[in-house]
Amino acid sequence: MINIAIDGPSGAGKSTIAKIVAKTLGITYLDTGAMYRAVALHVVNCGKNPSVEEDVTPLLSDINITYIKDNDENKICLNGKDVSQDIRRHEISKCASEVSKIPAVRLFLVDMQRKIADSSDVVLDGRDITSYVLPNAKYKFYLTAKDTERAKRRFEELKAKGQEVSYEQILADVKDRDFNDMNRDFAPLKKTEDSFEIDSTDMSLQQVVDTILTKIKEIDEKNSAKTQEKNVNTQVIKKVKDRKKQRGRWFYKGLANFARKVLRVLWITKIYFKENFPKNTKALVICNHYSGFDPCVIMSRIMGKDSKVVMKNEIVANSFIDKVSKELGCIPVKRGEADVTAVKSIMGALNNNQPVLIFPEGTRNRQKTKELLPFKQGVATFAIKAKAPIVPMIYYKKTVIFGRNKLMVGKPFYLDEFYDKKLNDVREVATQYIFDKMQELRKEIDILVENCKGSKKKYLEYKKNQSKELSSDVGDGRKE
Ligand code: DC
Repeated sequence: MINIAIDGPSGAGKSTIAKIVAKTLGITYLDTGAMYRAVALHVVNCGKNPSVEEDVTPLLSDINITYIKDNDENKICLNGKDVSQDIRRHEISKCASEVSKIPAVRLFLVDMQRKIADSSDVVLDGRDITSYVLPNAKYKFYLTAKDTERAKRRFEELKAKGQEVSYEQILADVKDRDFNDMNRDFAPLKKTEDSFEIDSTDMSLQQVVDTILTKIKEIDEKNSAKTQEKNVNTQVIKKVKDRKKQRGRWFYKGLANFARKVLRVLWITKIYFKENFPKNTKALVICNHYSGFDPCVIMSRIMGKDSKVVMKNEIVANSFIDKVSKELGCIPVKRGEADVTAVKSIMGALNNNQPVLIFPEGTRNRQKTKELLPFKQGVATFAIKAKAPIVPMIYYKKTVIFGRNKLMVGKPFYLDEFYDKKLNDVREVATQYIFDKMQELRKEIDILVENCKGSKKKYLEYKKNQSKELSSDVGDGRKE
């Protein structure tokens, strides 16, 4: 919100200037002095003494101040009645100064003023706007003039309205009000350090308005330069931080690459049907799980550097391992709870066309059996949500260092028949479907290793013969 705060002693021309500034900027003008005057008028109308706190405070709950727009002007209403003229009466000025000393009156009006300033662009003028009502306003002015000059202006104003008062009387009143306004205990009139002071004694109205508008422009320019400088500084700091982070990352990246290379050598693995792995697309890669080193082999030899693997959170509890494993593409997941961060990372990777390796058994097969353990339902969820193909892989048996490990890559498949169903209704059956596909692959790798001595060529021949036998069986059936 634009809040322009103008303070100063009475008769300095605040309200006239504030009105023009508000009009020029196309925003609202709020004369806070008029509010004190309205309270004073109500007190006088009730026949009470404006200087007696006990008289004034109980009346506050009966006061309702509102505004109505009349042509370009805001008219002030006291309990629904337009009192814009009444409050300007000379005796009311003095009473307003009296009621303004009462803390309850100030709190009552300040609350209204802050609410208005909070909800609209506004120019406010008064005595305590810059110091108490809106101490954080961006634009603050202190408008003053010699008391003799202020008295002269007021005298001429009242004379023009036909009111009979002497200049001496007005000067005495001006001095009196200055003293009251500047010396009351609660929120007295003062020039705050951050207010721009304008002495209008020898200035024309237009000169004062122009000074204020120029200052506003200056403050805006200064602020925008500051914001730009701040933005540049933040960018520089971010760059330095990024560079530092990047420098740190090289170390862990190097370690991760080294780990990949070493494991390729130590964890010797023969991979069958690597060509089944779809390139440059998202995929959920699933595999039976024996050793913590299995993912390194699968990821570096089949899935590529951009790939991700879902690992239990405990593995990365140590910050060093966490950093290396991040470089290895690890997505840590808290088991046994809905890990929103992990879910987001997995979906993010899939949507980014990166393959993600998940062990659907949820843990390593510690008995090292060839049988698959029951599957968790995460794979089905992600495959359906991301409409991603599932690439099944099976290790023939437990993997060992320097062993002749064997891994078979199956044909990718989709869970498309479940896409238009409610996830909760199909998660279980989809998981069973995935399990069955892995069982089929398990049978195939058994055939490959046990019937075909681990030879891909023999396995293909075996399959060819098998399908010939099948088709001739079907053929015989047809003849009959
Ligand atoms: O600006 P004015 O003469 O219309 O104000 C009338 C009285 O109200 C003045 O004597 C001081 C008081 N006043 C105040 O105490 N705080 C304000 N923000 C505005 C006016």
